[in-house]
Amino acid sequence: MEESECRSAEKKVVAVVGGGLVGALNACFFAKRGFKVEVFESREDIRKAKIVRGRSINLALSHRGRQALKHVGMEEKIISKGIPMNARMIHSLTGKQSPIPYGKKGQYILSVDRANLNKELLSEADTYSNTKLNFDHKLQDWNAETGLMTFVRPDQSQVHIKADLIVGCDGAFSATRKRFLRRTRFNYSQTYIPHGYKELTMPPINGEFAMKPNYLHIWPRNTFMMIALPNLDRTFTCTLFMPFDEFEKITTDDEVMRFFQKYFPDAIPLIGVDALKRDYFKLPAQAMVSVKCSPYHIDDKCVLMGDAAHAVVPFYGQGMNAGFEDCIVFDEMMDQFNEDFSAVLPEYSRVRVPDDHAIADLAMYNYIEMRAHVNSKWFLFRKHVDNFLHFLMPKTIIPLYTMVTFTRTRYHKAVERWHWQNKVINHSLLLSALGAVVGSSYLLIKNPPSINRVIIPAEKMWTRLVALRTLRTS
Ligand SMILES: Cc1cc2nc3c(=O)[nH]c(=O)nc-3n(C[C@H](O)[C@H](O)[C@H](O)COP(=O)(O)OP(=O)(O)OC[C@H]3O[C@@H](n4cnc5c(N)ncnc54)[C@H](O)[C@@H]3O)c2cc1C
Ligand SMILES: *[C@@H]1O[C@H](CO)[C@@H](O)[C@H](O)[C@H]1NC(C)=O
Ligand SMILES: *[C@@H]1O[C@H](CO)[C@@H](O)[C@H](O)[C@H]1NC(C)=O
Repeated sequence: MEESECRSAEKKVVAVVGGGLVGALNACFFAKRGFKVEVFESREDIRKAKIVRGRSINLALSHRGRQALKHVGMEEKIISKGIPMNARMIHSLTGKQSPIPYGKKGQYILSVDRANLNKELLSEADTYSNTKLNFDHKLQDWNAETGLMTFVRPDQSQVHIKADLIVGCDGAFSATRKRFLRRTRFNYSQTYIPHGYKELTMPPINGEFAMKPNYLHIWPRNTFMMIALPNLDRTFTCTLFMPFDEFEKITTDDEVMRFFQKYFPDAIPLIGVDALKRDYFKLPAQAMVSVKCSPYHIDDKCVLMGDAAHAVVPFYGQGMNAGFEDCIVFDEMMDQFNEDFSAVLPEYSRVRVPDDHAIADLAMYNYIEMRAHVNSKWFLFRKHVDNFLHFLMPKTIIPLYTMVTFTRTRYHKAVERWHWQNKVINHSLLLSALGAVVGSSYLLIKNPPSINRVIIPAEKMWTRLVALRTLRTS
């Protein structure tokens, strides 16, 4: 007791700004190391709140996020309340459903409840005696020289608190990051995509899930799409992603119904006509922002993690996973540099910026892939080819989605490898198509008698090849 008190007295104070998903998890990482951790969250304690407003009701947890949870002993607890999704389920206009697996047999992502995850992480942080959670503390500003932070309380009073290290986990609109913006040699960009999103609930039918539960359901409609993730209470949360222009065109009940009849007819009876008319207008469509910046630190005083450092569009299901992985990467560097902030912080920026930028770009790419490419024959064909090659040569060809979702391959390495693999696969596809043509021509020359019968397949081969090339360039 004496000794641990003594040690904690000399340990530095780490202030985690933001008690969202990444902040709450990060508090556990720092607490485990024995720092004096203070979490400052602008909202009230969501564990006691009646309504919890968040950015989405549920989200997809995958390998990177799970690894981070494992570091603080939370993996089992969280996955036991998650629902495995083994594949995407594509809903066509006619209501036909076709699955596209995520990876190999047995690989899945998990649908988890955001509010529950956040509550569990806060409770876990609360179990450390060296951690204090301060709710209703909104960071207003902080000083990079002294580490002095100013918080505003709900009664508008101000509180001033000092820390040795400030960890900004205050989300896409980070107040911690504002200080960075006033500095020189800080790169920053923010992009709002033209799409917004709206969430709708699909209730259970006779106490059972309205659709197959172990899938991420997708209704791709080129310029817009709807997805649905299962919840523990046997509901699905449907999210409609659509350009704001289109959302604004729908202003009456009838227009909602006409729109759904045209594009998502199979979803109408599952959501329910009354619920659809009511819920569609409950909240305005929410915006989605992509934020990139560099570096992620100021001296040995402050570091940004999670959405505060890299808000990404939600189409790769990696925002939280990347933020959770930030915590592991930082933690590994704390070991490497003996908890010396002046060495860890610059190294963290150096290593993590290219990876977080890569996932931001990939998420933007998937923004198109999910709503448009999954409708394309070439895309589906390539997915099959990639998966087949991965099956034949598991170490040589790894589908991009697999690297991102089921491994901890650095994001920017995954992208590099993806480009390389694409080149190799494109070339070999072309070569084998050519080979087939040459081969059949050879047969043709060798066995001239049945010319009429052989020529047709050879011609067909050319037509196929041309069709393939046209698809590739479309
Ligand atoms: C529609 C949608 C779907 C998504 N789906 C997925 C998915 O399937 N998988 C996935 O991995 N990711 C997903 N994401 C991304 C994920 O939501 C974010 O990456 C994740 O929430 C980031 O966590 P965070 O803790 O960094 O930020 P946040 O969750 O935004 O938390 C920030 C916290 O800081 C607090 N705060 C803000 N300002 C201050 C201040 N000034 N002072 C003190 N506290 C402050 C906030 O109240 C909040 O609690 C999705 C995002 C959206 C919008
Ligand atoms: C800012 O961006 C430019 C151009 O991409 C790059 O060359 C430079 O290294 C970046 N600076 C930092 C601090 O990341
Ligand atoms: C391979 O073909 C795909 C499909 O058209 C294309 O998107 C990609 O850019 C090509 N890659 C290379 C390296 O040629």
